[in-house]
Amino acid sequence: CGIIARVGEDDGVDRLLGGLERLEYRGYDSAGIAVENGTGLAVRKASGEVTDLKQSVSASRIHGGIGIGHTRWSTHGPPTDDNAHPHTDTTGEVAVVHNGVIDNHAALRRELEAAGCEFTSDTDTEVVPHRFERYLSAHPPEEAFRKTVRDLDGSYAIAAMVEGVDAVFAARRGSPLVLGVSDEEYFLASDVPAFLEHTDEVIYFEDDEIGVITPDHVEITTLDGRPVERASEVVAWDAEETSKGEYPHYMRKEIEMQDVSLANAIQGRIDDDGTTPDLDPFPPGTFAAIERIQFVACGTSFHAAKYGAQLLNNAGIPAQSFRASEYDDSIPVDEQTLVVAVTQSGETADTLRAFECAASGGARTVAVTNVVGSTAAREADDALFIRAGPEIGVAATKTFSSQVVVLSLLAHRVSADVADVAPWDDPAAFYDALERLPEDVRTVLDRGDAERVAEEFLGSDAFFFIGRGPGYPVAIEGALKFKEITYEHAEGFAAGELKHGPLALVTPRTPVFTVVTGDDNGTTVTNAEEAQTRGAPIVAVSAPGHRIDDVADASLQIPASHPDLAGLLANVQLQLLSYHTADRLGRAIDKPRNLAKSVTVE
Ligand code: G6P
Repeated sequence: CGIIARVGEDDGVDRLLGGLERLEYRGYDSAGIAVENGTGLAVRKASGEVTDLKQSVSASRIHGGIGIGHTRWSTHGPPTDDNAHPHTDTTGEVAVVHNGVIDNHAALRRELEAAGCEFTSDTDTEVVPHRFERYLSAHPPEEAFRKTVRDLDGSYAIAAMVEGVDAVFAARRGSPLVLGVSDEEYFLASDVPAFLEHTDEVIYFEDDEIGVITPDHVEITTLDGRPVERASEVVAWDAEETSKGEYPHYMRKEIEMQDVSLANAIQGRIDDDGTTPDLDPFPPGTFAAIERIQFVACGTSFHAAKYGAQLLNNAGIPAQSFRASEYDDSIPVDEQTLVVAVTQSGETADTLRAFECAASGGARTVAVTNVVGSTAAREADDALFIRAGPEIGVAATKTFSSQVVVLSLLAHRVSADVADVAPWDDPAAFYDALERLPEDVRTVLDRGDAERVAEEFLGSDAFFFIGRGPGYPVAIEGALKFKEITYEHAEGFAAGELKHGPLALVTPRTPVFTVVTGDDNGTTVTNAEEAQTRGAPIVAVSAPGHRIDDVADASLQIPASHPDLAGLLANVQLQLLSYHTADRLGRAIDKPRNLAKSVTVE
């Protein structure tokens, strides 16, 4: 879910709606706003996208300088008008937007209902305005809000308003919340892009802090009332990056800009000798005591983590990747274990919980993330930023590529630091290919074969993706991207596993996209042939001249590169394949059904 609030003197309704549009990638089941319009709180909400809410607002216009807004990804209760935020108390004196899950909502609700409160939604959030309203009868607003928040268990980012009070009240625990500061106004949001076009000056809230934001002042205190002094900082993102520009979709723009985002990820991170990483904040020797690496991540980031683990294993370092939701304290860690959270947003609840579990077991922690100021970046011992710029399309693209590049540099740093590991085989060849990578990605982007292949296989029954070694994470990422945005059935398999079950699914109507990342993928070609013998068309995703060309029915070509980086080029082809297929099918590419970019609940 996404939260926005705006506090200023002049009318802020358009800014609230604009902020919600920018936050839609966090959820788009329903949306709503509330403003203090001088005579009380005016609330508008609608199921569906922010455009539906805009229509409702333009049908009966509301005005106000102080307001809150929300775009929802449902957890408790289906996406109906009633379940949309803001939620209010029975009298309409208080309005609240919330991101997260209130664990003790059932008990609070029983208590409030027994005291006469009438609930109008199925959400966990609605307990908050009712509770707040009850405290208001005996306490001034700030104290009433603090008492309310103290009663809540679970995770939350909350913005609340009280009729007739020129302020927004904010609270955070476990869900992101950032304040935007400018001379004319303040913003409060789940994420910086919500207000980046108005200001790049920010203050991040930390857990168990309360904010009271009035048109000319912000006061932050801890939950128990101690004042917090925190200077604002300037975010490095450019507002331009949060607009679609000339592209039909954010996803298209983000795929197309990967030469630039990769150049940013690499820039200044290769030592002058051209054969070792120069990775701030990790000087040589940083990881000398590390004996093993564990990655925790979800979704696309998990696939990048798997890729990273593969590179480390190749270098002789024990590394495992875990789906964060499956990571718990049964997994042994100690001070010699480096646990790396790979998370674009730095806010994925499953990943943060796994990270916390590793840290409490004594592991050393590093966050590989795109968002400076994110929870993962702040909670890790160290953070390594992928510098991809804001990614708005729900399906991750450029951040995957940048994660893989940064993880490959981290892998080189660790292997150079760990004494009993043999030096990387021909590092100069890797770094040459790395420096050439943005150019190679451009070559892939300009080829145009993905659009033709997408067209050719449109209407297939299912789409399979296979690969081996670093080609395996690419195959499963290719399938994930495909299912996310086309809604077609797609699966990724380790090439060698095809014959152990999935071959039963193979028919002439199930193309098998075969990722080959190096000359040594001969067995993968055999696996493709096994599928082809059963009638499946084979699409090679490979550099020219590979033996798979003799077998393949169609191809998505990539330039010859280093085997550790070829998978990344193959992945760009598969991103384009998914994009063009989804485009031909008329799918909601930037906002696929049922998904959200940043899932801040477990
Ligand atoms: C959600 C998104 C995925 C993303 C995953 C992890 O499920 O829909 O696209 O890969 O979260 O996100 P993170 O921000 O941790 O990389």
